[in-house]
Amino acid sequence: MVTNDNNKYDITVFGATGLTGSHIVEHVIELSASQPEMYLHGFCWAIAGRNEQQMQQLVQKYMTKYPSATIPEPAILVANVMRRDTLDAMAKQSKIIINAVGPFRFMGEYVVRSCVENSCDYVDVTGEPEFVERMQRTYHDQARKNNTTIVHCCGFDSVPADIGSLYVKELYQEKGWSPVHIEMFLRIHYGEAGIHGGFATYESAVHGVGSAELLREIRKVSGLAKLPRPGPQLKLKKGVGYNHDMQMYTIPFPGADTSVVRLSQQLLVSGQAEPPSNSSSNPSQNKNVMPPTVQFAAYVLLPTFWIMIQVCFYGLLFSFLATTPWGRNLLLKHPEFFSKGIFSKQNPTDEQLRQTNFEITLITKGYQTKTIPVDNHEPDCHVKVMIRGPEPGYIGTPRMVLQCALALLHGKKRGQVPVGVLTPSAAFWNTDLLKRLPSVDITFEEV
Ligand SMILES: NC(=O)c1ccc[n+]([C@@H]2O[C@H](COP(=O)([O-])OP(=O)(O)OC[C@H]3O[C@@H](n4cnc5c(N)ncnc54)[C@H](OP(=O)(O)O)[C@@H]3O)[C@@H](O)[C@H]2O)c1
Repeated sequence: MVTNDNNKYDITVFGATGLTGSHIVEHVIELSASQPEMYLHGFCWAIAGRNEQQMQQLVQKYMTKYPSATIPEPAILVANVMRRDTLDAMAKQSKIIINAVGPFRFMGEYVVRSCVENSCDYVDVTGEPEFVERMQRTYHDQARKNNTTIVHCCGFDSVPADIGSLYVKELYQEKGWSPVHIEMFLRIHYGEAGIHGGFATYESAVHGVGSAELLREIRKVSGLAKLPRPGPQLKLKKGVGYNHDMQMYTIPFPGADTSVVRLSQQLLVSGQAEPPSNSSSNPSQNKNVMPPTVQFAAYVLLPTFWIMIQVCFYGLLFSFLATTPWGRNLLLKHPEFFSKGIFSKQNPTDEQLRQTNFEITLITKGYQTKTIPVDNHEPDCHVKVMIRGPEPGYIGTPRMVLQCALALLHGKKRGQVPVGVLTPSAAFWNTDLLKRLPSVDITFEEV
């Protein structure tokens, strides 16, 4: 067993044998070959899951594929969500767990609880707002007491949107301006091989729609501050719209991004995202000024009329069925049929992953003043930002979650990371995450 001076693995990847988990494992190894400087001297890590033999094969496969890897082979930990002792053992041996075991609604809480109780930091790839807000409400205080940082939504849900918003806020602050509105437009490009997602993601979405009522209940009893509304109201365009600047149809983005950006801002406004004040070993690295609050709305761009019609048809059918138990059963039995072949129990092919990428446009508005005018007049300046990256689910997500884990590992030592149950920008606003992401081709650019 190789561990560092604290006798703990720096990072443990849990769910290593899954579709997302195995891509994370590959990326950890591949990055050590292409950018060894990403890892501190003496980095040691582990992978965890239910099946020891499969994990051994995985290590063999990727250590052979990347012979110039500069990190040691990972240790193998057998852990099962249904066996609390194994989760506790994993948490006790790890500084940070990257959790890729989902759907999180059913399996995430046991892992979060074990991390909080054993003071092990944690990042995950969930995109399930009901799970995130439930964990935030249930474990935040205990996590703070135990000096533990739990960060949800560190994959494509919702790093581009949440850290992208942080990027916009920093741009405005550098100019001496104040941002008030961010509208996000997501476009996925794919090639001849088509676009494909894993079954667990589809399953998470089915149950996500099914638990919308529960999410409303959780929000009603949230102790977090209500957000101020800077500038004139930014209205979400419900239903199908047409954006003349982009020359494309739009529908509201159905994913977690809006919830995550809102929760991040609530955590910041409520004073729950302040790094420990006296523990910074290098205070000059701290940003000190907390990001301001903005209004946020998110859309998906649909390039043609025909695509818009199909998305509306499948979207309405999905939303209708996902609200009842029998409908959810039906959706889960026939993923291909109800997603027009985008989701199935088959994993995406390498070709599909290679040919896919994402592009996010942030159209933002604000005032050319350091403070927001009290009369709420129309914003007088705007900034456009592009965020780009590779295939979001299994290429982009591993890169994002690993950089979040590394930012946590290094930032915590420097006293830059708050403790508690947090979201990406609440956890990482004071760290170097925004600088790290472009080095793995997740780019943020003012255009
Ligand atoms: N944020 C994003 O953009 C993003 C992107 C990708 C995925 N995700 C999310 O990540 C999650 C996983 O997706 P996936 O496609 O990788 O799913 P998957 O291929 O089904 O993998 C699930 C993993 O969970 C493990 N697992 C299941 N039950 C377990 C238990 N009782 N104890 C320990 N491990 C258990 C499985 O282990 P075995 O191999 O032993 O079965 C497997 O490693 C989903 O919730 C998905 O929505 C999010």
